[in-house]
Amino acid sequence: MTLRLPPAFVLHRRACVGSTNDEAKSLAEGGAGEGALVWADQQTGGRGRRGRSWASPPGNLYCSLILTPDVPLMRAAELGFVAALAIADLASWAAPQADIRLKWPNDVLADGAKISGILLEPAPPGGIVLGMGINIASAPSGTPYPAAALSAWNNDLTAQAALERLMARLWDLYGLWRSQGFLPIRDLWLSNAKGIGEALEVRLEDRTLTGIFTGLDEQGALILDGTTRILAGDVFFPGADQSEK
Ligand code: BTN
Repeated sequence: MTLRLPPAFVLHRRACVGSTNDEAKSLAEGGAGEGALVWADQQTGGRGRRGRSWASPPGNLYCSLILTPDVPLMRAAELGFVAALAIADLASWAAPQADIRLKWPNDVLADGAKISGILLEPAPPGGIVLGMGINIASAPSGTPYPAAALSAWNNDLTAQAALERLMARLWDLYGLWRSQGFLPIRDLWLSNAKGIGEALEVRLEDRTLTGIFTGLDEQGALILDGTTRILAGDVFFPGADQSEK
């Protein structure tokens, strides 16, 4: 199996791991640098945002990439938008008939259902691990937001083909971010976002806010009603069909 990846990449192929993010962090501790990529067929302890688990049966894509951009750690969250754009490109290529949109902060929706997740974590001594899970063959049920798998639109897509497309686009967008900063990434993200100018519900740890989604600030925070700045939360679209596919 020859895998076509950008030249800087070093693939660490695994059948089964706890979490590809943890595997990538161990590699970073052992000296692995930018471009080290862990790809596993399944995870027994896949992790999601906000302490959730990420169901990881065989057939989907689970990967984690070490990046070492020379920026303060607080800018790492911008990479979630870079990765979401790369996943949206993959989804548009694999499922051209689906409506592919971005949901803050880092979700990709196909016809309104979540098809992927992104988990960014520090990778000591000086890197960041960008973990991505993409539902290719199956989607979990009972999730906070309805989920779907790309097989609903394209039954021929393999995890390998998805990984190749994803990494090629990710590397291009990462280059754009490194050379020109977050603003062009923000513009691209906003032009593919769901719900701009519409009412949103944002579930925070301790309360729920509603308001009109007016944009993102220069750090990627969600702006409601032109002034309310939100750094972490789960977005829902009141009135949209959010039943499971
Ligand atoms: C989310 O909650 O939406 C983020 C999910 C991130 C899942 C991916 S799968 C590969 C990598 N390894 C993990 O344990 N999590 C990420």
